[in-house]
Amino acid sequence: MCGITAYIGPRNAYPIVINGLKRLEYRGYDSAGIMLFDGQGLQLSKTKGKVSDLEEITNNDEKRKNGNIGIGHTRWATHGVPNDTNSHPHVSNSGELVIVHNGIIENYDTIKKELIKRGYTFKSDTDTEVLVNLIQEVKKNEGCKLGKAVQLALNSVIGAYAIAVFDKAKPDELIVARLGSPIAIGIGENNSEFFIASDASPFVEYTKNAVYLEDEELAIIKLGREVRVRRIHNDELIKASVQKLQLSLEEIEKGGYDHFMLKEIHEQPKAITDTFRGRLLVEQNFIKLLGIDSYREKFLNANRVIIVACGTSWHAGLVGEYLLEDMARIPVEVEYASEFRYRNPVITENDVIIAISQSGETADTLAAIKLAKERGAFVYGICNVVGSSIARETHTGTYTHAGPEIGVASTKAFTTQITVLTLMALKLGREKGTIPEKEFVKYLNAMDRIPQQVEKLLEIDEHVKYIASVYKDATNCLYLGRGFNFPVALEGALKLKEISYIHAEGYPAAEMKHGPIALIDENMPTFVIATKHGHYEKVVSNIQEIKSRSGKIIAIVTEGDITVKEIADHCIEIPETEEALTPLLTTIPLQLLSYHIAVMLGKNVDQPRNLAKSVTVE
Ligand code: F6R
Repeated sequence: MCGITAYIGPRNAYPIVINGLKRLEYRGYDSAGIMLFDGQGLQLSKTKGKVSDLEEITNNDEKRKNGNIGIGHTRWATHGVPNDTNSHPHVSNSGELVIVHNGIIENYDTIKKELIKRGYTFKSDTDTEVLVNLIQEVKKNEGCKLGKAVQLALNSVIGAYAIAVFDKAKPDELIVARLGSPIAIGIGENNSEFFIASDASPFVEYTKNAVYLEDEELAIIKLGREVRVRRIHNDELIKASVQKLQLSLEEIEKGGYDHFMLKEIHEQPKAITDTFRGRLLVEQNFIKLLGIDSYREKFLNANRVIIVACGTSWHAGLVGEYLLEDMARIPVEVEYASEFRYRNPVITENDVIIAISQSGETADTLAAIKLAKERGAFVYGICNVVGSSIARETHTGTYTHAGPEIGVASTKAFTTQITVLTLMALKLGREKGTIPEKEFVKYLNAMDRIPQQVEKLLEIDEHVKYIASVYKDATNCLYLGRGFNFPVALEGALKLKEISYIHAEGYPAAEMKHGPIALIDENMPTFVIATKHGHYEKVVSNIQEIKSRSGKIIAIVTEGDITVKEIADHCIEIPETEEALTPLLTTIPLQLLSYHIAVMLGKNVDQPRNLAKSVTVE
């Protein structure tokens, strides 16, 4: 949570930092701030609200936009409500040190009390203001340089952080450090300028060379010199490894769409194709997944698979459970990472843990991985963000290659996660001999058709928009599905809740009569996934039960369906495919539906209230 960015070099820092913050707003957007240094004094501007609100303050004031050094922050509040004072950057009591911070300092209260005894005063309620004053105190007491003072201060804090610190007395230098929250350093030609950010998106147009800090690392960034990286706890000097960025500017812009979410929904045919690339080899009748190939025995001898994830990724994990059990006959458990990490789970060396995460930075998922590794399990990651903490922490894994997902509501990340899980289940099923050869070939061909089918499905946008206009004023909605589509019902409900703030619940269709049916009346729309497969007749009966209680039915059906069409109020058709692959299609109309309802209700689709794209705190 929270985005941090900074610049030091010959250019005016203001536009770089402000544009960088806009790209990082997916990480938090309840307040924003910027500090510029023009060689004379600090210019601090901060406000509750979005980066656009910050721009309003600075726009007509040239003084606030001057300087070749700038640090900025976009916040998702943890300690202290979102207001101007609690916004970052924070300045130390001496007025010399400035900090931006992403994370939580858990023992801030104890440190604060100690600093107050020593005469420090605090303006804000934040843990960050405590940290910057602690650094000041250490610097004063030890008489050391800023880098050393930051390192010593961090050794006495408990918590998670990505920080950037500036000292007025050393205007050619910035100190950054990370533990649990990401930091990327963009490096200009001959070290003539540096860019710092929570991810590389703020500086992609300026440099392709970046250093990603690892946990427990601190970097001293000084103009004209190579970045120096040290391990925080033992002062070990580390060789900074410079990576070439693959990210392009087009990928992180809206490309003509009104919202990132809509763009990302429409990107799914390409995203799924990219997930397949080099892996789904239809001609060779083969699925190539290096992560599995290199650890084949681990998978083949696994007693069980435990999938850990949060939110939408957890829903993808549920689809994975159905796929892996059905195709590869491996017992699977799907766990909320937040529960798993604290409930003293039984984990053995014969367990395979699959951690799923779009961002690769989710704190609970990361902690679940660490726990599983400590207990000897083998951990496989399914991540979107290349080089993210989870990607690095796992033994091996598969990238989804969905491209940057910026809309807070996850869309293409979900379908590409399911794509990877399907490839894994098919591959393991074949290696274990639990899928007959003929079936395998059938699946491969059906998978190959999915991107075109998604493309075709996206053409129903106007029809879905119409349905959205009919139900946009509902206050409660039910989502039902069975089998592979039960998790899709959960995901459909989550999508609606998070961007339109309409209460929605997902249920396995047959569970309806054990409770939720009491909610049904003429005001309650139920979205039912009723494709023509295994449980079709049973779902049709559920639909009838709802209709006979005056409920409204919006059904997702297979092309050419007649039965449901006669009963439902509205139908949305999806192309024919194998039952196990239907989640890749049934998800699409539910995403569009949530999107249109949220737009019609005037909600901020890409930045829904109280949420952030990457949840790096507990
Ligand atoms: C919902 C959503 C969240 C994330 C969850 C996990 O649209 O985006 O529920 O799925 O916070 O995030 P990752 O996948 O980054 O670990």
